[in-house]
Amino acid sequence: MARHKKVYRCSSCGSTLPQWMGKCPQCSQWNTLVEDIVEEETPLRTRDARQTRPMVLSEITPLETFRRGCAIAELDRVLGGGVVQGSLVLIGGDPGIGKSTLMLQMAGHLASAGMKVLYVSGEESAFQLKMRADRLNLDSSGILVYPEVMLEKIRDAIDEFSPELVILDSIQSVFSSQIDAPPGSVSQIRHSAGILMEIAKGKGVTVFVVGHVTKDGWIAGPKMLEHMVDTVLYFEGDDSGVFRIVRAVKNRFGTSGEIGVFEMKSDGLQEVKDPSSIFIHGLGGDVAGSAVMATFEGSRAFVVEVQALVSKTSFSMPRRIAMGSDVSRLAVLLAVMEKRAGVYLSQSDIVVNIAGGFKVTEPAVDLAIVMAISSSALDRPVSKGTVCIGEIGLGGELRPVNHMESRIREALKLGFTRAVIPASNHESVPRVTGMEIVPLSHVRSALEILS
Ligand SMILES: Nc1ncnc2c1ncn2[C@@H]1O[C@H](COP(=O)(O)OP(=O)(O)O)[C@@H](O)[C@H]1O
Ligand SMILES: [Mg+2]
Repeated sequence: MARHKKVYRCSSCGSTLPQWMGKCPQCSQWNTLVEDIVEEETPLRTRDARQTRPMVLSEITPLETFRRGCAIAELDRVLGGGVVQGSLVLIGGDPGIGKSTLMLQMAGHLASAGMKVLYVSGEESAFQLKMRADRLNLDSSGILVYPEVMLEKIRDAIDEFSPELVILDSIQSVFSSQIDAPPGSVSQIRHSAGILMEIAKGKGVTVFVVGHVTKDGWIAGPKMLEHMVDTVLYFEGDDSGVFRIVRAVKNRFGTSGEIGVFEMKSDGLQEVKDPSSIFIHGLGGDVAGSAVMATFEGSRAFVVEVQALVSKTSFSMPRRIAMGSDVSRLAVLLAVMEKRAGVYLSQSDIVVNIAGGFKVTEPAVDLAIVMAISSSALDRPVSKGTVCIGEIGLGGELRPVNHMESRIREALKLGFTRAVIPASNHESVPRVTGMEIVPLSHVRSALEILS
């Protein structure tokens, strides 16, 4: 039996300290240290049985990654082409967003294809799961359900029934009797994740772990869990709306950044076959304060609408609100507009929103944000059928963005006929019939398009 000792762990960066401090010396966050119990022996102890001799890289025979499609194409895409055998996947999101629904749908499809599935539910009873399976019209005959929260019992059930896929819903509800801390605490989550990793890697069982995220971030064990697992999927989107986006923020078996789009219906999450069209309303041109851009996520382009509202402030400090984009980037763009293009908005409140609950974090959205803000400030719409794609540098210069051709083609598919892009991208992008290209080199000339 391993000996345990008490340490203090930072719930923000995961580093451990022998004594409590107000501020974490690693990440400089205040009041993030929480009590934790760890084994005194080195974590390598559990790996003694594994091959640890150094080997010549070229002589290693690669193990074939065994994937299985789960019949939900958007989920397969996010996972990098299907469920990978022996992988540990974390699926996170706000409560009520659809994690359990998606997991049960996936379990149903894989079980019908002959896979042995164990659904461990620490939150819902077997009866509730059955009701959901019926509502989703799933063939639940191949799914074993186990309403249990004790980690040791869950491990025994996995040993006894030898499932190929285990779904643990959720990591916050599970606890181990070896750890003297409540369920959901950093030490419990870390311990459970370690055991699940051993099950996944040691037995080749695929494990999906559900984790709840609150509006302020993780309840416990944030980055630590992300580091441990192979793949991290997050649900995004407004849980009051109908669309849900599942994004791979980390994937050891595929492209990270890949997204899948779903619609929540009474019979579960349905794939959206043509996701671009749901994030825009028409071709624009009628309302001031809106600009359309084509963003590139994972391996495909999406056309999204950037909305802005500029209004006279009644505060001493004007408000800047960004929904679906980075608020500090917004501040930078406003400074660039002021300094490089002479647009003064220091007396205005500014709200920027990416329509449809989509999140765009890439800088290629800069030009569309600037156009939407200017359009609202001047009360002049961006002309109909125009997409604006480009990063803006601190000097006001338009910088090239990647995958420009795919972005332009996606916009063309939806009926857009004019693309405002950085001049530096112009040469490298082949002519696309039906799309007029407007190359720009400076943010000043971008604003001239409107005035
Ligand atoms: N009886 C129902 N009819 C239609 N939709 C439902 C029903 N029950 C739940 N839902 C939908 O499923 C969502 C809950 O999904 P769930 O998978 O339980 O979320 P999570 O596991 O992420 O907390 C609800 O927000 C709702 O949209
Ligand atoms: Mg749930």
